[in-house]
Amino acid sequence: MATRMSMCQLNINEETVGVLFLINILFKKYMILVNKEKGTQQQDKLRSEKEPPLDKGVIPWLGHALEFGRDAAKFLNRMKVKHGDIFTVRVAGRYVTVLLDPSSYDAVIEDSVSLDFTRYAQVLMDRIFSLQLPHHNPAVEKALTKQHFEGGSLSCLSSTMHCHLQSLLLQAQRPCHNQTDWNTDGLFSFCYSLLFRAGYLTLFGGEQNNNRTDPTDVYEEYRKFDNLLTKMARTTLKPEEKRTAQSVRGRLWELLAPAGLGEGSGSSPWLRDYRHLLQEEGADEETQRRALLLQLWATQGNVGPAAFWLLGFLLTNPEAMRAVRREFSSISEQDSAKCPLLDRLQHTPVFDSALEETLRLSAAPFITREVVQEKTLQMANGQEYQLRRGDRVCLFPFISPQMDPEIHQEPQRFKYERFLNKDGSVKKDFFKGGRRLKYYTMPWGAGTNGCVGKRFAINSIRQFVYLVLSHLELERCDSEAQMPEVNSSRYGFGMLQPEGDLAIRYKPRHSH
Ligand code: HEM
Ligand SMILES: *[C@@H]1O[C@H](CO)[C@@H](O)[C@H](O)[C@H]1NC(C)=O
Ligand SMILES: *[C@@H]1O[C@H](CO)[C@@H](O)[C@H](O)[C@H]1NC(C)=O
Ligand SMILES: *[C@@H]1O[C@H](CO)[C@@H](O)[C@H](O)[C@H]1NC(C)=O
Repeated sequence: MATRMSMCQLNINEETVGVLFLINILFKKYMILVNKEKGTQQQDKLRSEKEPPLDKGVIPWLGHALEFGRDAAKFLNRMKVKHGDIFTVRVAGRYVTVLLDPSSYDAVIEDSVSLDFTRYAQVLMDRIFSLQLPHHNPAVEKALTKQHFEGGSLSCLSSTMHCHLQSLLLQAQRPCHNQTDWNTDGLFSFCYSLLFRAGYLTLFGGEQNNNRTDPTDVYEEYRKFDNLLTKMARTTLKPEEKRTAQSVRGRLWELLAPAGLGEGSGSSPWLRDYRHLLQEEGADEETQRRALLLQLWATQGNVGPAAFWLLGFLLTNPEAMRAVRREFSSISEQDSAKCPLLDRLQHTPVFDSALEETLRLSAAPFITREVVQEKTLQMANGQEYQLRRGDRVCLFPFISPQMDPEIHQEPQRFKYERFLNKDGSVKKDFFKGGRRLKYYTMPWGAGTNGCVGKRFAINSIRQFVYLVLSHLELERCDSEAQMPEVNSSRYGFGMLQPEGDLAIRYKPRHSH
């Protein structure tokens, strides 16, 4: 009777039962975190004065993981205001020391004894690509890659890339549209799709129009994979997404299976050598495919998005567009008998500055190391901090130098000539606190782990923009439209991507 009474008074219905059930589950989850947390509390007590300020966040164990994942740039800016250029945050049970003073970056980048690059890279490799390479020697791989992306090999790759870009651009204009009609697309899809397919054909092979793997299939699967990549890295996939991720990954492994096998595969010499190296290391067929997906990501994941931001900034900044066009048209007017187009395209200071400026605004990788033995970090201002073994160290050049108002005036604005001197030469003098900076923008990382494909990437983007501007009339559908916002969940994963897209239309140039 009493229970019935109180049931009535409380007016418990199904909904309330549901809510209570949810509270119960949340409470249990919370207690799991509290228990995980107990393991780390002992450590916290031992933190000493000499260590960077520690900010654990309010949620047990998880610490700042949620805020970090939602918008790392916003979160780290908040921490910078609170603690300064160095601090330690707790993220999903890990302690991460974040360093945001570019004058002190070399203390981290140049120490490969106390600070290890490969361990965290292996964690990500396993999470994203489900890949373990037990007998792998990163130094050998690096040497092999370098050899194929420099000098004469680079020229070969770049001219193959040029051919593929040209024929894909011609194709893009053709299907179901006549010469007077506009094609419409989103700028991001347009750039990503074209550069991905051209890059895939150049490095992984599979000529167009024959029976080999169609680059469009690979591209479409890859985009699905790309959308889940940050969640895979953070292990925050929902059960349904996990299933999707697994099936998309499996499909990509299948599509990549023939790449790099022998002369007939149409793959680049680089990929054939890479595959050979894997075989020598004893990697089985399955492992080799997984490694190919990793290489697909490293070589194709950043170029398309970079070209998108650059073309987008040019379309929304008429003065910059005019300057780049002027430079390109003076190149196309030069005598091609004396010097081939691709060689003439090597000297483009205005374009190079516009690209550097684009990457300053849109390249946001983390540079992460694991502390494998205790280290005293000496900052440029003379201060010293103790780094603890087992913690991670993370540089985030996007906040500083790239978006640092002390270094770059009006850092949010696209200024195509930011990296040019008055006399048209490349500007390399940038300062912070009176000190000339070695690192004033860092889209390619730095040191021994910096990007191996930098030159090839720059050549590809330059060719792409040149071809698009010379072959197409391209404009925004809405002439007032501005650039879309950044997708804030991607900070830390290389090139940023937009949230939504910029609608464009295009047709062949000189049409009637
Ligand atoms: C705009 C385009 C690109 C950007 C912004 C970019 C950026 C980067 C960054 C920041 C890293 C260092 C990652 C780290 O420190 O953990 C890196 C590594 C790498 N990049 Fe790029 N990259 C681009 C295009 C390319 C291309 C086209 C290729 C190949 C053809 C390439 C090949 C590589 C390789 C192989 C590594 C690994 C180096 C290592 O393991 O030490 N990248 N890239
Ligand atoms: C091309 O498209 C325009 C607009 O849709 C149409 O008016 C024209 O007749 C088409 N021309 C040809 C040759 O199909
Ligand atoms: C082309 O591919 C299809 C499907 O994979 C296959 O059935 C066909 O035999 C192939 N043709 C040639 C000429 O290789
Ligand atoms: C933002 O990026 C994430 C991760 O790549 C993706 O899953 C999500 O769909 C993107 N959001 C928008 C609005 O594009």
